[in-house]
Amino acid sequence: MAVERTLSIIKPDAVAKNVIGEIYTRFEKAGLKVVASKMKHLSKAEAEGFYAEHKERGFFADLVAFMTSGPVMVQVLEGEGAVLKNRELMGATNPKEAAAGTIRADFAESIDANAVHGSDSTTSAAREVAYFFAVTEICPR
Ligand code: TYD
Ligand code: MG
Repeated sequence: MAVERTLSIIKPDAVAKNVIGEIYTRFEKAGLKVVASKMKHLSKAEAEGFYAEHKERGFFADLVAFMTSGPVMVQVLEGEGAVLKNRELMGATNPKEAAAGTIRADFAESIDANAVHGSDSTTSAAREVAYFFAVTEICPR
């Protein structure tokens, strides 16, 4: 399997719960390396641009309001099959449907406050990594 990069966000609900470290530990135990990270309080325009693919959906305004409600932790994860591996660690979008032991099953309350974001494909990952990080901010090792 190829070494990939994926964009991960620890959302405002999980940052508020003080579980950044617990979530990072799951990435590390799964063999994913944090090669860039920053804490940010997203502006409305930043959240709207990030989730532009969902702008016609009924939940879009609530999603943007939630993503701007407090700081988020944004990171680039690198490793073998990183995109799918991170999605497996995250669990299903709706935490009520997420498999036991996944991040969303353990830390998320609802489909609209679901603890983490992860790129859904290598194409999305390339766009999302570039949305938040300059090439010079990424430190492969
Ligand atoms: P989506 O890309 O479908 O899910 P995922 O985060 O698993 O890739 O949706 C983006 C976010 O939009 C999702 O994490 C939470 C929010 N959302 C809702 O609030 N309600 C919904 O019905 C859906 C599908 C998503
Ligand atoms: Mg998605």
